[in-house]
Parts: sequence; structure tokens; C-alpha cells
Amino acid sequence: MTVTEFTNPSLLAPVISNIWDVPQSWKLETYKQHGGYEGLSKAWHYGDGELTEVVKASGLRGRGGAGFPTGLKWSFLPPADGGPRYLVVNADESEPGTCKDIPALLANPHALIEGMAICLRAIGGHHGFVYLRGETVHVYRRLMAAVREAYEAGLIGKGLGPNGDYDIDITVHAGAGAYICGEETALLDSLEGRRGQPRLKPPFPAAKGYLARPTVVNNVETISSVPGIIKNGADWFAKMGTEKSKGHGLFSLSGHVKNPGQYEAPFGITLRELLDMAGGIREGHELKFWTPGGSSTAILGPEALDVPLGYEEVMEAGSMLATRALQIFDETTSVVRVVRAWTDFYQHESCGKCTPCREGTFWMRAVMHRLEAGKGLPTDIDMLYEIAGNIAGRSFCALGDASAVPIQSGINLFREEFEQGLTTPAWELFPYEKSALF
Ligand code: NAI
Ligand code: SF4
Repeated sequence: MTVTEFTNPSLLAPVISNIWDVPQSWKLETYKQHGGYEGLSKAWHYGDGELTEVVKASGLRGRGGAGFPTGLKWSFLPPADGGPRYLVVNADESEPGTCKDIPALLANPHALIEGMAICLRAIGGHHGFVYLRGETVHVYRRLMAAVREAYEAGLIGKGLGPNGDYDIDITVHAGAGAYICGEETALLDSLEGRRGQPRLKPPFPAAKGYLARPTVVNNVETISSVPGIIKNGADWFAKMGTEKSKGHGLFSLSGHVKNPGQYEAPFGITLRELLDMAGGIREGHELKFWTPGGSSTAILGPEALDVPLGYEEVMEAGSMLATRALQIFDETTSVVRVVRAWTDFYQHESCGKCTPCREGTFWMRAVMHRLEAGKGLPTDIDMLYEIAGNIAGRSFCALGDASAVPIQSGINLFREEFEQGLTTPAWELFPYEKSALF
């Protein structure tokens, strides 16, 4: 099946990235020329709870990876008690392979700002934060400039809305570059000025979040999807995608693909169709394995090329859609080397709070290095599998579970390659210069 046969071709028109190719797409003027801030103008006229109902009806699910229904999350906030309620946008994207929020922020920061204003209006909040990776100074500057433009244009600030009585402030906070601070409660601790480590849940941030007040934590792409929903209506959004995974999303293709980058498409598109859009696997090579949503999702082989990329469908295929970070690897790639690199990452980023993850990632890393060097011990593969099994489901947060996934799925799909690691270095079996990835 080709992309044009996929579904109604008009649904392939970009929704999130519609102005990314327009010159100066990040400027307020450009955004407004293309219908920007019309959703917010409309939002001021909705009654209490109505905006949340529209978002619920649209079927929008969290784009940060977990796919939790967005309107439902907003509705979990307890009734107003006169105290503050917050929105925190998670822009701490750092999963290996995940690279959609930074381009979205660079190309169209106003979609996020407009979405934040709508969300704050929906939850009765007045202060929103964007928690951004501090290393991406260029993104910080771009977003700050857009926030300033929005203040100067009176789109956010004091005395907003038809009655001139609503205040909305937005603060951009640069984090210090810890992967764990993308976990929502570690992010909140970090935002409060503490060491970023996950909190026990429940209570969820909806009940006790920033400064122990009701807080919505949503991803950049989730909030950037909201203005279109309010402007065009819940039905417009809900008719795109699959039955349970509605709307359009950014699919990030990287690795051994001819034209890597961001491809926007309705949920339910397949990797085969996305590869058509991206020019296919690099010339003369074939697909060996891929991740549907970054390094914490089980790797899949070519037999999954036609799996519709929706949350439930990918789960049925044995993995997770998560952040739609499609990392593509051809036959020149050593699975052992890739899994070793991801394990290095998880060990480095483990916050150390709980034993299974802190100790387990250390030992998995040590064993993976042995296997990559062709110096594995006969018991290593079973031991690796056992360590991973002791981390999964027993760690305090999703990072520990994630660290077990590449190991377990790698061994499940490519056990012989791991066995070769008992005698032969990966760089002899798969020379670096052929793979050109590491
Ligand atoms: P989760 O499933 O525990 O929670 C999802 C969201 O729903 C959270 O905001 C949580 O507060 C809310 N929620 C769930 N049950 C609730 C309840 N009963 N009441 C109120 N709120 C409730 O998933 P988690 O741990 O937040 O995220 C894991 C995902 O993050 C993974 O699937 C992974 O794909 C993704 N991820 C993304 C990264 C990135 O760079 N974008 C990095 C690492 C992981
Ligand atoms: Fe920290 Fe890892 Fe435990 Fe999460 S699973 S709390 S990252 S040690």
C-alpha cells in the first residue's frame, strides 16, 4: 500500500507542522496569518468545563509517550478552592531517538503558547511553565522571544478575555540536562529547586503537583495540538487517525533511512508508508530492526512493517508506540552494539533512588560491554535476561523498566548475535564504517 492509498489524502495534510516550511514560521505575524490564536479567541467564550469536554471529545492522547487521554487528565483536577492551579509543559525531551518537540518549538512556538493559554483557561489556572532542556540554548531563546511577542501583543499577560479580568503568565525554565527530569514528578521537584527524583504516585500531579497544588503536566506536542482542536472542533480531530488513537502526530524517522526527519501523518499510518515518504532505507540495504517509539520500546523486525501505528495496535505487536521515534537500522548494524549504547545511556541517567535500577543498569552495562568486545562469559546472556527481568516492574519509575526493554527484546529477536558476543567482537562482525551510525 502506498501513502496515497492510505486513507483520505486530505488527512495527510500537515496539522501540527502546517507552517513549518513558511519563512519565519516562528514569528507571531506568520502564525496569525495562518489562523493562529483563533482558537484562543474562541476559547474565551466557553463556559466552565466546556473546553475540557471538547478536548475529551476530540480523543487527544498525551504525546509525551504514555498516550493518556488529555481531556481526562485535565478533568482530574479537584474542584477550585481559590488557590493556584498550574500547567507545566514537559519539554525535557531526551529519550534516545526522540526528537520531535525541539523542531516543533523551533518552528512554531506560538502553537504551544496558544495551547497553554487555552489549557490554563480550561483548568482555571493563571500560570504555566515550560520545562525545557537547558543545553538547547537556541530553543530557549526562540521560545523566550515568542513568549515576549505574545506578552507585547496582549495575548498573554494581565486583564485578558472578554471581561478583561483573566491573567495568564508563562515562565520558561531551563533544566540542567538530566533525563530523569523528563519524568513528570522529578521534573516538578527540579522546577521547585530540588534534586530531580521521581515522587511516589499517587498522588498524581493532577491532585498535588507543582508546590503540592493541582497541576496539569503535558507534553509540547500535546498542548500544541489543542489550538487546532478548539478552532476546528472535536469532530475534525476525531475523524483522523484510528479508532482509539485519534488525530495527527509527528513521526520522527532516524538512522538508515534516505531522508531522516519529521513526518506528520494521521495515527494508524504504517512504517512501510512512512518509509515511502522518507525515500526508503538507504540504497542497497534492507531493514533489520526498528523501534516504534525510542529506546524504551521493544525493537521490532521487518515483519512489523505493516502494523498500524496506533497505541493499541503497536502494543499488540509486542512493543509500544510511545514517542513515535522510529529508529531504523539496516543489516550492517550490530544489535549488541546498539543495545550496549542504550544501556550506557540508562546507566548514566539512572537517578540512583531505587536499587533494581541503580544496581541493575550498572551490571547490565558491564555485561553488554563484555559481549560487544567478544569477551562474554557462557552464563552472560541468561544472566542479562534475569537482571533485566528483576528491574522490569520492580523499579520506582519508568526509567528502570525502560532500561530492561532493549536487552530483553534484543535477546528475544537476535539471540544468536548475543551468542556471537561470547567469542567475536561486534566491530569485527559489523564494521563501523559499513554501519556508519556509531
Ligand atoms: P503513566 O502512564 O504513569 O502516566 C501518564 C500520565 O497520566 C501522567 O501524566 C500521569 O500523571 C497521568 N495519570 C495516570 N493515571 C492517573 C490517575 N489515576 N490520576 C491522575 N493522573 C493520572 O506514564 P509516565 O510514567 O508519566 O510516562 C511514561 C512514558 O513516558 C513512557 O511511555 C515513555 O514513552 C515516555 N517517555 C518519553 C520521553 C521523552 O523524551 N519524551 C522520555 C522517557 C519516557
Ligand atoms: Fe531513579 Fe531508576 Fe529508580 Fe527511576 S527507576 S527512581 S531513575 S533509580
